[in-house]
Amino acid sequence: MLNFDYQNRTRIIFGKDKQKEIGAFIKPYANKVLFHYGGQSIKKSGLYQEVVDSLNRENIEFVELPGVQPNPRLSLVYEGIRLCRENGIEFILAVGGGSVLDSSKAIALGVPYDGDVWDYYLTRKEADKVLDVATILTLPATGSESSDSSVITNEEAQLKLGYGSDKIRPLFSVMNPELFFTLPKHQMANGACDMMSHIMERYFTNTLHTDVTDGLCESTLKAIMKNALILKDDMQNYDAWAEVSFAGSIAHNGLLGLGRMQDWACHKMEHELSAIYDVAHGAGLAAVTPSWMRSVYQENIGMFLQFAVNVMGVEASFRDPDAAVLEGIRRLEQFFADLGLPVTLTELGIEEKDYERMAKKATWFDRGPERPIGGLKKLYWQDVLQIYK
Ligand code: NZQ
Ligand code: ZN
Repeated sequence: MLNFDYQNRTRIIFGKDKQKEIGAFIKPYANKVLFHYGGQSIKKSGLYQEVVDSLNRENIEFVELPGVQPNPRLSLVYEGIRLCRENGIEFILAVGGGSVLDSSKAIALGVPYDGDVWDYYLTRKEADKVLDVATILTLPATGSESSDSSVITNEEAQLKLGYGSDKIRPLFSVMNPELFFTLPKHQMANGACDMMSHIMERYFTNTLHTDVTDGLCESTLKAIMKNALILKDDMQNYDAWAEVSFAGSIAHNGLLGLGRMQDWACHKMEHELSAIYDVAHGAGLAAVTPSWMRSVYQENIGMFLQFAVNVMGVEASFRDPDAAVLEGIRRLEQFFADLGLPVTLTELGIEEKDYERMAKKATWFDRGPERPIGGLKKLYWQDVLQIYK
């Protein structure tokens, strides 16, 4: 096991009706907030009005900034920074999915910073001061409600980059499984795949003596798969959403990766797809992950065998290790397909003419010294190209 130093400050307030108390939760920290959200979903569900009523009850002033799009754009982040500065706002309330939460974190970074907030995403330098962010989650997927990261798309440069720092973990996040009842089925599937990927990016490692986190990863993966299949037929199942949303936070709050070398190649490969084609993050991950597995499993066949047996239920006595691993990957791919997720780039509408450009962007080959991706096995642009193919 590797050394680690872990702290996660995010308070998780979980359960029915908790969003109605959002004003009281904010009151100890701020009297004026930026209320940041996406499109129409929170108005249709009634959540918007519940938030407004709760803020009014506590006499908390707010300035609204709607309009966050999936794959959140840098231009709206600039708009949020401007609004906060003009109105003297030092607290952001994010109500939505990962895109709204990430946009809020970027605004929180940008308001106290003299330079261009995009610097953080380009250079990954540590921030001095960051505004506090609180969230009401409406889509369990990214884990952004307690993660240290924010992923933003610079639409002019067609670059989608992540930034990570403990300082941007939300102060608190409200998670009420009932708020997920209005999600379309494909967003549930995207979310399940994203959280599974957050676990697998940590799970597949060459680090030894990781029994504790191996077990946590395996049981969380199985809980997501079991409950996503329940949701597929019953999108209003409170208990299944409770399991899935709890798993989504654990998947990406950092706990499952402690003491182990992590991979993250699939996320880097996916971000190139959504940077250019604007596809949903979870759907992009479904399309690259099984191919990545087939391409790298021989690097550490024992780990992939453990996954096949402990997570995908492949019999340990299967013909030979390679066959067992491939059967595990096939079952994972089938699970994604059963949820209606794409398992090839063609199904996502991504054209082969762009593969090479995306492979070079993923490894920074187009922007200076190449930065191979992946902790389990280093991948150069030609390797990424093969996986896309
Ligand atoms: O805009 P509205 O109308 O709210 O509709 C949204 C949006 O169209 C809709 N939606 C959300 N909650 C709903 C709902 N519709 C009905 N009922 C509800 N309760 O869902 C659509 C997608 O929302 P979005 O926030 O884009 O999805 P997601 O949560 O999957 O976030 C994806 C973004 O997060 C990044 C991804 O790259 C992508 O940009 N990630 C962020 C991470 C992090 N910060 O830690 C880690 C991840 O690996 C990921 O990269
Ligand atoms: Zn993700």
